[in-house]
Amino acid sequence: MTGIVIIGTQWGDEGKGKATDQLGERVDYVVRFSGGNNAGHTVVVGDEKYALHLLPSGILNPHCIPVIGNGVVVDLQVLFDEIDGLLARGVQADRVLVSANAHVITPYHRVIDRVTERFLGKRRIGTTGRGVGPAYADKVSRMGIRIQDLFDASILRQKVAASLEQKNALLVKVYNRPVISPSAVADELLSYADRLAPMTVDTGTLLNDALDQGKVVLFEGAQAHHLDVDFGTYPYVTSSSPIAAGACTGSGVGPTRIDRVIGIAKAYTTRVGEGPFPGELLDEVGEKIRQAGNEFGTTTGRPRRCGWFDALIVHQAARINALTDVVLTKLDVLTGWEQIPVVVAYDIHGERHDRMPVTQTELHHATPIYEYLPGWSEDISNARTFEDLPATAQAYVHRLQDLIGVRVSAIGVGPGREQTIAIRDLL
Ligand code: GDP
Ligand code: IMO
Ligand code: MG
Repeated sequence: MTGIVIIGTQWGDEGKGKATDQLGERVDYVVRFSGGNNAGHTVVVGDEKYALHLLPSGILNPHCIPVIGNGVVVDLQVLFDEIDGLLARGVQADRVLVSANAHVITPYHRVIDRVTERFLGKRRIGTTGRGVGPAYADKVSRMGIRIQDLFDASILRQKVAASLEQKNALLVKVYNRPVISPSAVADELLSYADRLAPMTVDTGTLLNDALDQGKVVLFEGAQAHHLDVDFGTYPYVTSSSPIAAGACTGSGVGPTRIDRVIGIAKAYTTRVGEGPFPGELLDEVGEKIRQAGNEFGTTTGRPRRCGWFDALIVHQAARINALTDVVLTKLDVLTGWEQIPVVVAYDIHGERHDRMPVTQTELHHATPIYEYLPGWSEDISNARTFEDLPATAQAYVHRLQDLIGVRVSAIGVGPGREQTIAIRDLL
């Protein structure tokens, strides 16, 4: 039995896609368990670059079965566009399996996402505008549309009509938008049913059977711990559970089936969208990191907000997710600094905090307390063993490991599949 979970420990874009793809060579199933096409996972294979949003990164390994779990919200147009895009590039992407219980992002969810953001104005979340939040809201309100509803046209039409009755009133009266036609939405969704039917499965049964047979199942997180609806910087979060526990509820396996939880941590910090970020660098230093790390969103192209490594946020993620290993990514991006600051504590109203504060108000008032570590100037992108790294880079990794409290088991030194230092086996 080998169940492995990969999650982001910061605010997303840590390099989960690359880590998943790399392990994918030795994995039987790769499962997405939360989020939707708000995710953007870039995987570089040789000269080819793939930007995956909804499909699990395991799709790029031909022997690996990609699965979309019940915890994901599925935009069907995006699903088939992504599959067709990969098929055109020679990737057998039509082998993906989708949970019958996964919820569907409908055209009205996309509209509501955008109009509510506009309505919020200064208080906006900075969502990806993909309809993800409204689709989860409907799921929890028991007004959602599930994949299986597409196979019963009469039920689907009833559900869409019921959901739109309330939403159309809101769209017209509050947001001053045109009415959305229930029959047009239902027709569009039903147009995908035939293609979807052979891909639809009960992911709980599928994955439990696979684990019983000794198969290796990798759960690929999207988003990250600090975007989690319970543990993140609420309300500046996504609307699902991207934490490790979400792998269970989002796919249908019990907690005892998870053997390893791997946290992906970038060697510095980034965030897209609104919300508190105590170590954010709004100056030319932040700009230099953004350029060096090419920190522009895979999904929306927005420039990512940048700062130095924040040990408090990764430590918190390590605790709540019971991480067994950390993969430290993008260490190569930090080459060329004489000194590298690391956030080791916060100053909140003159008081030092070595751990994240209890309340969001305190986090909004936190200013970073840095420790300064010596940098390195050597190009490390060809390093393949820990010993290949300059002594100061080794010391940087050791210090981060101490601060996080979890062993660093691999280090990324470039976007390519081979640009990784493996310290210990992750499977
Ligand atoms: P994800 O959302 O966590 O999968 O991460 P993204 O794909 O959105 O962002 C990570 C970016 O960094 C991608 O463009 C990757 O190709 C790239 N990347 C991943 N690991 C490394 C690394 O170790 N070094 C460098 N320079 N780039 C990396
Ligand atoms: P990956 O998997 C970074 C952010 C959005 C916004 C907030 C809510 O590539 O790491 P949503 O559209 O989910 O309602 O937006 O969450 N966000 C991400 N930021 N990486 C992601 O995914 C993200 N997915 C959502 O920018 O602040
Ligand atoms: Mg991303």
